[in-house]
Amino acid sequence: MDGERAQRTGERAAASMDQNDVKTREHRLVPHRGFTLISGTHDPNDVDQIYNLEIRDSDVFVVTYPKSGTIWMQQILLLLQAKGDLAAIRQLNSYSNADLVPWIELIGSRQAFITAPSPRLRVTHLQFHLMPAALSQKKGKVIYVARNPKDVLVSYFYFHKLANMLETPKDFDDFFEKFLRGDVFGCSWFEHIKTWYSHKDDMNMLFITYEEMIQDLQSAVERICVFLGTELSAEQLASVVEHSTFCNMKKIPQANYEQVSGELLSHQQGAFMRKGTIGDWKTHFTVAQNERFDELFHREMGDIPLHFIWDIRDIE
Ligand code: PPS
Repeated sequence: MDGERAQRTGERAAASMDQNDVKTREHRLVPHRGFTLISGTHDPNDVDQIYNLEIRDSDVFVVTYPKSGTIWMQQILLLLQAKGDLAAIRQLNSYSNADLVPWIELIGSRQAFITAPSPRLRVTHLQFHLMPAALSQKKGKVIYVARNPKDVLVSYFYFHKLANMLETPKDFDDFFEKFLRGDVFGCSWFEHIKTWYSHKDDMNMLFITYEEMIQDLQSAVERICVFLGTELSAEQLASVVEHSTFCNMKKIPQANYEQVSGELLSHQQGAFMRKGTIGDWKTHFTVAQNERFDELFHREMGDIPLHFIWDIRDIE
């Protein structure tokens, strides 16, 4: 077994250990150094050691607030590595994209990262201050994917029904309040994006939005290629784009978390790849909720030069 394969097997073992243990664990949000972790999913001591990790120039971290397009970027990175060859990814026999581009903060993941062969591709929801300090010395690369927070809220509401490590929301109104208070895993959407964005120039960072990816996936993939220094033929690039559209990813079990244990995800509650669009919040928010959200958004984001697309009709 080559090093990389052994590495993956180790990571899968860690992942399936998590899945088997999940039944017996109590999952609750645990405040930890200005962030929250999920007990049974994250180990605070392990998370604290992420800060000191040695980073290689070839390391790539995808940073997201939950529900902002993590699986999408995992899919794109895997396809870029495989030069658009989906069959080559299938042959790796993973349960999900997260086996191949794992979460750095999950129990057991940090240890596996240390000895993993390059390039080490990882995803994280962690806040800036918990991530490796070396990133701010321009070691490695960071891709921050941001999504408009109204759609994040709606997507996160449905994910809380699906994910057994998160508390099932009483109803949408209750979840709306929790999200506004930052009383969810990931804490405040506003703090997450503002902190990471403010350190953008300290690191090698590509800042991209979910909405840009929806608007023009090919251009987004081209930007990612330039950022990572990946050279692809036009045909290979077209294949990466084709296999990372919402419709096609929905048909790929590894890109839809379909094979993940029912202990982790209650599959009968819906699909991980749910709607994949812009503006679903319009069918969920009341007028009053929308006004409150706008007010908070302007208060928090007034000075930040970021513009979001809130409605799919704005790009059609
Ligand atoms: S998680 O649980 O934080 O890792 O979730 P994450 O992967 O960040 O976000 C899931 C949402 O991203 C949507 N998605 C896509 N939308 C459009 N096109 C593609 N290819 C795509 N891939 C994932 C996914 O459907 C979730 O959004 P919602 O709004 O719930 O559909």
